[in-house]
Amino acid sequence: MADKKPRPGRSALARRAAGALRGHPGEMPGPFGRSFWRSPIRGPWLTSVLGLILLAGVSVVFVTGLLSYAAYNPDLDRINDTTHGKGLLGFYLFSWPTHPVWLYRVNQGLHVTLGLVLIPILLAKLWSVLPKLFEWPPLRSPAHALERLSLLLLVGGVMFEFVTGILNIQQYYKFPGSFYTLHFYGAWVFVAGLVVHVGLKSRTVIRSLRTHGLVRMLRDDTAHTRPEPPDSSELVSPAPAEPTISRRGVLALAGTGSLLLLAVTAGQSLGGALRRTALLAPHGQDLGNGPNDFQINQTAAEVGIRAEQTGAGWRLSVGHVLPAGPAPIRLSRAELLAMEQHTAHLPIACVEGWSTDYQAWTGVRLRDLARLAGISHPASVLVDSLEGGGTFRHAVLSAGQIMNPDSLLALRVNGAELSLDHGYPARVIVPANPGVHNTKWVASLNFAT
Ligand code: HEM
Repeated sequence: MADKKPRPGRSALARRAAGALRGHPGEMPGPFGRSFWRSPIRGPWLTSVLGLILLAGVSVVFVTGLLSYAAYNPDLDRINDTTHGKGLLGFYLFSWPTHPVWLYRVNQGLHVTLGLVLIPILLAKLWSVLPKLFEWPPLRSPAHALERLSLLLLVGGVMFEFVTGILNIQQYYKFPGSFYTLHFYGAWVFVAGLVVHVGLKSRTVIRSLRTHGLVRMLRDDTAHTRPEPPDSSELVSPAPAEPTISRRGVLALAGTGSLLLLAVTAGQSLGGALRRTALLAPHGQDLGNGPNDFQINQTAAEVGIRAEQTGAGWRLSVGHVLPAGPAPIRLSRAELLAMEQHTAHLPIACVEGWSTDYQAWTGVRLRDLARLAGISHPASVLVDSLEGGGTFRHAVLSAGQIMNPDSLLALRVNGAELSLDHGYPARVIVPANPGVHNTKWVASLNFAT
């Protein structure tokens, strides 16, 4: 039986190790020689299992990413779309719904949390194929060159997506271009590489799992761990060292890393008491108990809102997109408060994965403001903020979003005046809307028919 095979003595192992560093006769020296790589657990089985876990995870991350993009209603207006020239890549676009109200919260929580949780699995997968990075000769044939190119897209794409995603959720916004554009196109490059990769490797995955079984390999502890038989993929070391960890040990290690990341991240999306566990969240865990004590991404000071803009002289302009329409109506805050008020319980959910608990927002329904402007069936509304610059100083909302009875121009929250940082004198709040489209410090609403 394989596990009864006598193990080589220490001196034999030392000789093999020295041989590996020198390189076997006819081999390239150092990491370019196959026998430099001595882990006895490297091989198609471990790579396949890690690949399958990644496949399940990145598929969800990809789909939720596409849905997140669709949530901005990019087809409605160029203002909503920072990824110009998407062409066919925008094929899946549809009008983003307002029900269920937690839709965007769950979508983004899943996208960001799962992305983070997959990092240890991705690192383990890349470790499992590390010798391939040093493969020599690097290009053997035109077909091999094409495969290497697809790997460049795959590995480069996945690194790019993870790095830009992590920087963004840590509020590092200094990208050489729009994060949305970079992350959107990066995702398609990565997925193109992934489709080719899975196509090329699917036979290896099936063969390897059929030959060794999933559970059978997992039964082996470190003492019983044996290298896989040499195979055409050349991942199996020709000079394997003594095992220091079993394959199930590697999977458990990566899985524990994933669980730890889950434990210190998920609270920012789940909210409630679990918010305190979100140690990696940049918004802090203890926000206070006041009516306005919930997350703020950008304060009034950060976006340059000046006190005189939000004082007694502030007026909301309600009008038509076309200048040919009637002159806009100008409403003071007192006049807005004198209109019929409505309260809606809605969370704010950010593209960066965090979300607030449900807050009680009170204000005027957007559809009532449309009617005031003389439009009972608006096709869209352009919302402008007092902000002087920035991609999200304005947004266009769809007909469905305007007409939802819980879509408000909010003036109060949780029974108190909105704080300046939450958008005083007035802000938009719409069910299932991405946080940045719930425009703060609203200056004007211009409806289109
Ligand atoms: C983030 C995604 C992934 C990355 C970055 C990645 C990266 C790599 C790299 C660089 C190689 C070495 C390629 C070579 O030169 O032969 C490889 C091999 C492999 N990958 Fe992936 N991979 C990913 C996802 C997957 C998925 C989803 C599967 C399967 C469902 C998979 C299965 C395999 C298999 C079977 C091998 C070959 C192992 C062998 O040659 O014995 N990979 N992967």
